[in-house]
Amino acid sequence: RHIVCVVGARPNFMKIAPIMRAVAATEGLRATLVHTGQHYDAAMKASFFEQLHIPEPDVDLGVGSGSHTEQTANIMLRFESVLNAHQPDAVLVVGDVNSTIACALVAVKKGIPIVHVEAGLRSGDRAMPEEINRILTDQISDLLFTTERTALTNLTGEGIAAEKVVFAGNVMIDTLMYNLSEAVPAASTRAAAGNNATGDYGLLTLHRPSNVDEPETLARLVQVLIEISTELPLVFPVHPRTRSRLADAGLEARLVDAGITLLPPQGYREMLGLMREARVVFTDSGGIQEETTALGVPCITLRESTERPITVECGTNSVVGTDPAAIREAWAAVRDGHDKAGRQPEGWDGHAAERIVRALLERL
Ligand code: UD1
Repeated sequence: RHIVCVVGARPNFMKIAPIMRAVAATEGLRATLVHTGQHYDAAMKASFFEQLHIPEPDVDLGVGSGSHTEQTANIMLRFESVLNAHQPDAVLVVGDVNSTIACALVAVKKGIPIVHVEAGLRSGDRAMPEEINRILTDQISDLLFTTERTALTNLTGEGIAAEKVVFAGNVMIDTLMYNLSEAVPAASTRAAAGNNATGDYGLLTLHRPSNVDEPETLARLVQVLIEISTELPLVFPVHPRTRSRLADAGLEARLVDAGITLLPPQGYREMLGLMREARVVFTDSGGIQEETTALGVPCITLRESTERPITVECGTNSVVGTDPAAIREAWAAVRDGHDKAGRQPEGWDGHAAERIVRALLERL
């Protein structure tokens, strides 16, 4: 059997790595890897391929940035010729980025079965571009692998047959466990940015359009985080989107003046070290909510909702939104030692990709 596996953006890379490894170890299954080129900077792409030992893509569609429509349409046009040339038995997509829906849509139009890894997650917020990508990809998928049990209820509630859904666990956590011993110590990552402090710190990431594209929201977040940084130094790897919004709003200098350590986007192993050793993580990322749960590090999520409720029910995550009082309160709980204990969710055990590949062999 031959599957085409698709990656496009940073959060896809850690999901595809264990799947490529499991396919390579399986007789009777082979994979062609297509990179759409949605993320293309060395810091957003190459360092992940290298560190995670992802094979060089067989095909790079090189689409780059653009409006959502341009990006999605360009991926679709270029991906169609790949399917014409390869005629695979299935297309496997991961996560919820524009590359995910674009390639799934091309496959369904050509009658090629779609496998979606990380299916059924729902924030309930359709203003999030990823929520639309999730709903639509799941609707047209033939085999859906889930990371938490609630995802099945979301899917059947949308009319998707339960027979198509397989609980596999979390491939992102496969990657975390596989690489944990190679995590780069936080002190060396901080030192590389000229910060020689070795004590406690909080890690901060921000990149959701709802937080960074709206200048008022961004300014409000920056203000409360600067306040918190007087009690706990903050380390902030800055996504390219956020870097340009901060510059537009004149906020970058305020962060630097407040002593917050700004870093360029980090590699996977550097992030792993920064997360593992952090006192607390402030983030609006999806994946980091999961990674902090797996690491047992308190996570304060700066969003109104999460599509990953298990990180709250079972893990270390608190979803607090962007209200300064709520953020201060969540930080105070951590500071005063009242943070959530958390435990490992079911199936977050480092073997999800193997379960996926076994199911692929049975079902394709
Ligand atoms: C995308 C995903 C989001 C994911 C995030 C992780 C969608 C809808 N969004 O958002 O779910 O959490 O990736 O990073 O697919 N840019 C660069 N270099 C790059 C890539 C992007 O400088 O290699 C800049 C460009 O200015 C670009 C902007 O970042 O316009 C946004 O990139 P884009 O791929 O549109 O979305 P992300 O915000 O990265």
